[in-house]
Amino acid sequence: MAFDIEMIKAVYSKFPSRIEAARIAVGKPLTLTEKILYAHLTLGEANSPFERGVSYVDFNPDRVAMQDATAQMALLQFMQAGRYKVAVPSTVHCDHLIQAEIGALADLKKANDKNKEVYDFLSSVSNKYGIGFWKPGAGIIHQVVLENYAFPGGMMIGTDSHTPNAGGLGMIAIGVGGADACDVMAGLPWELKFPKLIGVKLTGRLSGWTSAKDVILKVAGILTVKGGTGAVVEYFGDGARSLSATGKGTICNMGAEIGATTSIFGYDEKSEAYLRGTERGDIADMANTIKAHLTGDQEVYANPEKYFDQVIEINLSELEPHVNGPFTPDLAWPISKFAAAVRENGWPSKLEVGLIGSCTNSSYEDISRAASLAQQAVDKKLKAKSEYTITPGSEQVRFTVERDGFLGIFENMGGVVLANACGPCIGQWARHGAEKQEKNSIITSFNRNFAKRADGNPNTHSFVASPEIVTALAIAGDLTFNPMTDSLVNEEGNSVKLEEPSGLELPTKGFAVEDAGYQAPAKDGSKVSVLVDPKSERLQLLEPFKAWEGTDLKGLKLLIKAKGKCTTDHISMAGPWLRFRGHLDNISNNMLIGAVNAFNLETNKVKNQLTGEHGEVPAVQRHYKKHGIGSIVVGDENYGEGSSREHAAMEPRFLGVRAILVKSFARIHETNLKKQGMLALTFANPSDYDLIQEDDAIDIVGLADFQPGVPLTVVLNHSDGTKNEIEVNHTYNEGQIGWFVAGSALNLIKEEI
Ligand code: F3S
Repeated sequence: MAFDIEMIKAVYSKFPSRIEAARIAVGKPLTLTEKILYAHLTLGEANSPFERGVSYVDFNPDRVAMQDATAQMALLQFMQAGRYKVAVPSTVHCDHLIQAEIGALADLKKANDKNKEVYDFLSSVSNKYGIGFWKPGAGIIHQVVLENYAFPGGMMIGTDSHTPNAGGLGMIAIGVGGADACDVMAGLPWELKFPKLIGVKLTGRLSGWTSAKDVILKVAGILTVKGGTGAVVEYFGDGARSLSATGKGTICNMGAEIGATTSIFGYDEKSEAYLRGTERGDIADMANTIKAHLTGDQEVYANPEKYFDQVIEINLSELEPHVNGPFTPDLAWPISKFAAAVRENGWPSKLEVGLIGSCTNSSYEDISRAASLAQQAVDKKLKAKSEYTITPGSEQVRFTVERDGFLGIFENMGGVVLANACGPCIGQWARHGAEKQEKNSIITSFNRNFAKRADGNPNTHSFVASPEIVTALAIAGDLTFNPMTDSLVNEEGNSVKLEEPSGLELPTKGFAVEDAGYQAPAKDGSKVSVLVDPKSERLQLLEPFKAWEGTDLKGLKLLIKAKGKCTTDHISMAGPWLRFRGHLDNISNNMLIGAVNAFNLETNKVKNQLTGEHGEVPAVQRHYKKHGIGSIVVGDENYGEGSSREHAAMEPRFLGVRAILVKSFARIHETNLKKQGMLALTFANPSDYDLIQEDDAIDIVGLADFQPGVPLTVVLNHSDGTKNEIEVNHTYNEGQIGWFVAGSALNLIKEEI
């Protein structure tokens, strides 16, 4: 059904020659990460090396995956590209919009009603353009991808930060914004700064209470939430080969918590077993023919310090189970030290809820090991003292673990099975009483535990651990319980101890599913209509942005001179606004409302130069737009840092801002602005920022001769009749100037078809 064998064959056919060329170009043995990256270069075979952490390189990913929240704008944009079909295999997964409240069936039904228009749009647009569509209830994007699409040596981008989960099967899988997904689906290359490489050597073997999750909890403690930034984390060694493919997926998934670009394991017997177990033996057969290319070179792993930028070694035989938190995933506590930390810090030791599953930890292995503890609880007459929920990662896993009796065991212990969806992991949790904002503790087998993430309550102390530890602590109802050493008193007043968990990596009877929830796209999508209600508040078809008028831009009103930090969140706030992420007009009402106005140091209060009154930024800009007057936004250092959210570039463009002039840009945002046909400019002399006055009318001149590397001129016409002429720089190349001229990158793509 779901994978594309011909595509994988074509990818593998390039590996031998491209990797050989890369080895010559780099002049040394290669890591696995380098092999896959060099095998996916847009330029073909490399003839010179790329500098890690410096070179920007174009790649051709094999696949795109999108979740339902971010897919909306990605696909609305894709519709503008004028293509009949996506250029690479792509899928949409409906997982983020289902709220957990009562249990799987009731919650799913409610979500289907509430989000009908979004699902109808995503289903119809997928059907039309050749995109695989996974319905609500089919599962969480990363689990479904691992089961169906991930393949060793592949390269994928996904519009979700935990896309690296597929690294567990040896794929370079990277989280991106919707604009990048749109480009790749339209057949354009995808640019990435060539990453630095962190090697993690795993020795020894896991045993007893320790699981793969503890490896990444330990790594997060070592590297912290920023330690992986700009780097790919590559795991290797005997210990790595001993981990199940899904355990590897867990580790790669949570690499996002240390800021890593992605994480990866090499192809081995466990990967082969998982491919065969998920009915992809033909991919395993193909991978076996190029096995040597699907791991790093032996010399690299023998002397890792010579080839990685940083090396960490972890002995799995000595690794303890960990609990990380609260409020951050890098506060790592071995279980032997956790109880003392709870007491010393005054964290609520009573455990209210234990939640297992999610995209991070819902494999057959995870569920079967957790169920072995739940069974013990029942057998030993222990009742779970905390509430307990189970979120399966996919319908295939859910169906199989139900068939094998595990869900029944959880229910016997008082557990509630939630829909196969993100639910509490993304704050889609109607948690009873959360609005009272009481101090309390929960523990999950998820990946993120920032304040408010699960239930919106800033006083919920959220901890992350393996499903086994979550289950044991939920049985005890107490965070200070250490199942390795402590006993519990059962309903009959006897002291009992939990034995070590046990489980199976793969089901002995194989996976099974009745309805996986997959909708294949139409063979010929030309007659399929995309369903968008013109009256919808949540969705709006995009109109192409206007092409450049061919003249200099004169008399632009200063909309705002932003002072200090101005991240994508200040430019396009999240929270309640996310509801409108598929409706550009509605979401534009959050444009720059978080930016601080340098003239009054207030947010969302700027002078309307036409009326002289102060007003909210979006309202003032809409006033200029109504009068056909362009405007300009001025900013400080690192403008647009934060996420790759394309709305932060689309909103100003949509509302008629013509240029963003700043001291410096965050690079992704700068590129996003260029893609939307905006002028992204920097002060040649940063102190010229101080020359900008509140009533300025601003001209941008020299556009008829807009060329790479040649500065433009900006004239500041002050209200007292004086002027300043300043030089501004830009980083547009020929192609990007083409985007500006055409009005957007998508307009240009359309022209080229
Ligand atoms: Fe969903 Fe949470 Fe994973 S939001 S994709 S289950 S990190």
